[in-house]
Amino acid sequence: MAKISLGVTSSVSIYKACEILREFQKEGHEVQVIETKNATALIPPALFNALSGRRTIVELFDDQNAWSVAHVALAKEIGLFVVAPATANILAKFAQGLADDFLSTFYLAVQAPILIAPAMNEAMWIHPQTQDNVRRLRERGVEFVDPAGGYLACGDEGMGRLADPNLIVARGLELLCRGSSLQGKKVLVTAGPTREAMDPVRYLSNRSSGKMGFEIAREARRRGAEVVLVTGPVTIAPPPGIEVVRVVSAAEMKAAVDKRFSKADVTVMAAAVADFTFAAPAVRKIKKEGLKTSLDIVRTPDILKGLGERKRPGQTLVGFAAETNAAAAAARKKIREKNLDLIVANDVSREGIGFDADANQAVLTDRRGRSRKTDVLSKRALAAVIWDAVEGLRGQKK
Ligand code: CTP
Repeated sequence: MAKISLGVTSSVSIYKACEILREFQKEGHEVQVIETKNATALIPPALFNALSGRRTIVELFDDQNAWSVAHVALAKEIGLFVVAPATANILAKFAQGLADDFLSTFYLAVQAPILIAPAMNEAMWIHPQTQDNVRRLRERGVEFVDPAGGYLACGDEGMGRLADPNLIVARGLELLCRGSSLQGKKVLVTAGPTREAMDPVRYLSNRSSGKMGFEIAREARRRGAEVVLVTGPVTIAPPPGIEVVRVVSAAEMKAAVDKRFSKADVTVMAAAVADFTFAAPAVRKIKKEGLKTSLDIVRTPDILKGLGERKRPGQTLVGFAAETNAAAAAARKKIREKNLDLIVANDVSREGIGFDADANQAVLTDRRGRSRKTDVLSKRALAAVIWDAVEGLRGQKK
């Protein structure tokens, strides 16, 4: 049994929220309703109180909730947040991070999967501003059940009707499963760059921020896995609930990963391991006068390739490729050469995505040679897409 928050806003289709609530309950889940103030003009909280068996939340500051910061406390407890019906106004508020009532404040605190089912007049739905808000939310990993066509309350025919409640509930239950789909599984993730010392003050490295690997680790934890994150030097904070192993050089990363690989059900090498290291790093800082005009560099060992050679049946190995022209053929070749199950190729040559950016777009190619390009997504949303692909592949293995 999970706890679900059902956000309800002031669309005429609000009556269908009662059915959605009931369906989730039939599946054995507890539902906490959150209404906006405008929604209470259509259906007063008393009806939702009676249906849910819990006091409906409307106000941000409420005596009953004074014991704690209620929106944060509730956000931590839930396995799914559904907003159905969602008005154009709430989409705009979520997209902007505007937090002026309980529901919009709650949205910012939620870590669980979020599912939104919009309902509004067709002109409002297709308005570029609304579509822009939807796109921004999708980029952040929010899932949607799009409105359907048909007769609208305003008398018009068109897109904008709340989707079938059964569809909304079915999608919600799928998202809820994500919360435990990796339960009992051990996951090893690498992230960040490595630093190869030239002397005690200088090093060779790359622009990786570690964000992608950290999001992959966070998503695995969220799905119930026991996660070890081996990370090179980064400035971002690790997600909660996972074991973090900090390394500096490619050699250290290899040692840390090799030690843990045999226990891992899934290993994701998201680190941007330096391809070269110095043949003989100096023990003391090299003086300018002593600097040579060329440096002796040697290849670092390919950690991923080594893992591919050791991989046992049942283990899943995911590699990354930092391509400047994401070529599926190159990905297929790497899958074979390194014995991978999945390769995530991202185009690091484009501004605003890939290295050091918050957004990413990738081509996922699996061991059967199937390739697909994702939309431009936040790294958090891309992490969920990658795990869906990994879980899909693991399902086929059985
Ligand atoms: N990798 C590794 N050990 C290295 C270098 C890379 O394990 N010494 C891993 C990375 O973590 C990543 C994948 O291998 O998962 C990247 O493979 P690579 O062949 O380096 O791909 P590209 O970055 O695309 O490099 P290139 O363009 O040189 O092929």
